[in-house]
Amino acid sequence: MDYNNIMFSKEGGIAIIKFNRPKALNAVNPDVFLEMSDALDKIISDRTVKVLILTGEGEKAFVAGADIAHMVNLSPLQLKDFSRNGQEILFRLEKLPIPVIACVNGFALGGGCEIAMACDFIYASETAKFGQPEITLGVIPGFGGTQRLSRLVGKAMAKELCMTGAMINAQEAKDMGLVNRIFPKDKLWEETMKTAGLIAGKGKVALRAIKECIGRGLDVDLQDGCYMESEAFGLIAASPDQKEGMTAFLEKRAPQFKGDFC
Ligand code: CAA
Repeated sequence: MDYNNIMFSKEGGIAIIKFNRPKALNAVNPDVFLEMSDALDKIISDRTVKVLILTGEGEKAFVAGADIAHMVNLSPLQLKDFSRNGQEILFRLEKLPIPVIACVNGFALGGGCEIAMACDFIYASETAKFGQPEITLGVIPGFGGTQRLSRLVGKAMAKELCMTGAMINAQEAKDMGLVNRIFPKDKLWEETMKTAGLIAGKGKVALRAIKECIGRGLDVDLQDGCYMESEAFGLIAASPDQKEGMTAFLEKRAPQFKGDFC
């Protein structure tokens, strides 16, 4: 598939999807989702990819939301389909068997904030802005924002953000736990790549187990979550990385992780 709305590239074991509609501040529409879905298929079938980074093209935006020009005249059923379509692609992102980092280089509003929240964690530039401004357009978040935001920042703060539509800056987003780290604009990419590279050097099977245990563990009680953790802990021995990691420690050398999904 030719990509006209995203850029898809690979640097070593790191795949990069860049939203590429800078004239519309990278607003997402069904074409963006089609291309994203195709890129995710490629990532899943490419066993050399160990980490995915999402970012936005241009100086101003990660993604400024769902494309308002696309949505303005949709019927109720078309709007519902658009919302489901967005939710499905974000579930795919969230369930991707590799870590996904959102590198937020500007506005992450509405659907943009929702995309970032479906990633494993968010790094942002000092100038990034977050928010769920849908209420200002007479609608509500439609790509999982009412659900993921409350899980990330708590019920009351999620309600305030969704009910006021207010934009918050990167520091506020970090203070409330939405963003992990913030960097000067010119250092954001370098720092994101540094962390992606660090993670890419770890064992793929263990990374997947961490992602699944933390992600799914939040939906169950502590006992069931810990049970899931023991199952995963045992299963990791199916990967050569377990023996390699522990042997390397005992032999006082750096581990060479090669394990793949078994
Ligand atoms: N959809 C479509 N086009 C958008 C857009 C969006 N979400 N956001 C920005 N654009 C377009 C603008 O229309 C403008 O296009 P033209 O140059 O052709 O006029 C261009 O991008 C640049 O935008 P501005 O001139 O407005 O730039 P600014 O710097 O003055 O303001 C902004 C930036 C504050 C982000 C402002 O563009 C804005 O408020 N955008 C809308 C944000 C928003 O409401 N997002 C939520 C969308 S609804 C949603 O996402 C629903 C959902 O959950 C599924």
